[in-house]
Amino acid sequence: VSLTLQKGERGDPGSPGTPGGMGIPGMNGKHGSPGPVGVRGDPGTPGPQGEPGVRGPQGPQGIRGMPGPKGDRGYPGMRGERGIRGFKGAKGSAIPLKRSAFSVGISPRKSFPPSGFPIRFDKVFYNEENHFNVTSNSFTCVHAGVYVFSFHITVRNQPLRATLVVNGSRRGKDTGLSVRSRHRPGVHSGGAEAGVGDQVWMETLRDWNGAYASSEDDSIFSGFLLYSD
Ligand SMILES: *[C@@H]1O[C@H](CO)[C@@H](O)[C@H](O)[C@H]1NC(C)=O
Ligand SMILES: *[C@@H]1O[C@H](CO)[C@@H](O)[C@H](O)[C@H]1NC(C)=O
Repeated sequence: VSLTLQKGERGDPGSPGTPGGMGIPGMNGKHGSPGPVGVRGDPGTPGPQGEPGVRGPQGPQGIRGMPGPKGDRGYPGMRGERGIRGFKGAKGSAIPLKRSAFSVGISPRKSFPPSGFPIRFDKVFYNEENHFNVTSNSFTCVHAGVYVFSFHITVRNQPLRATLVVNGSRRGKDTGLSVRSRHRPGVHSGGAEAGVGDQVWMETLRDWNGAYASSEDDSIFSGFLLYSD
C-alpha cells in the first residue's frame, strides 16, 4: 500500500490567550537632576517689634539753629547803686519851651478901680515870664496860640460889670469872660485864641465898678498859654 500524504493548508490564527498575572514592582530609580528656579513668592507678614537697641555713641555737634521767637517783656530790674557823676553834656539845641502864665490880684487900697481903664492888678502871685505888665495892667501874648483866662472878682457896695478886652475890643461875650452882677460872682474862665502881640486886660464898665479886695476877699485875674500854634 502506498500512501501519499499531502501538506494541508495553513489554519486560522488562534484566539488571544488570557492576560498574564501582574509582574513584581521594579527597583527605585536613581535621583533626578535639580529642576529650574521657581518664580519669587509673595512677601510674608511683618514679624513682632524687636527689643530697643543699646544707646549709640554721642554724635558730632550740629550747626547753629535759627533764632527763636521774641520772649515776653521781663520785670523791671532793681535800682542799681548810684554811679559817679558824668561830665557836663554839650550845649543842647535852642528849642525854648514856650511858657506864659500870670496870676495877679487887686490890693485892698486899689478897690473900686475907675471904669473904662484896665483894672489895676498890683498884687502879683505869678508873673515869672513877665508877660503881664504891671504898669499898663495888660498881658501881652508873646506866643501865638490858645490861652485860658479866668477871673474872680469880689463884689461889694456897688454892682459890677467887667469884661475881657483884647487890643481895645471888649471880648467878654465871645470868650465867656464878662460878668454883670450885684452879688458876689464865682470864678469866670474862658479860652481865647491870640496872635503875637495881642494885649489882653480886664475892664469895668460905666461906673459898675464894685470890684473889691480886703485881707479876706480876693479879686484875681489869671491866664496861661494852653498850647502854642
Ligand atoms: C509896660 O507898660 C508901660 C506903659 O505902657 C510901658 O512903658 C513899658 O515899656 C511896658 N513894659 C514892657 C516890658 O513892655
Ligand atoms: C493887637 O495889637 C498888637 C500890637 O499893636 C498887634 O501886633 C496885633 O497884631 C494886634 N492884634 C489884632 C488881633 O489886631
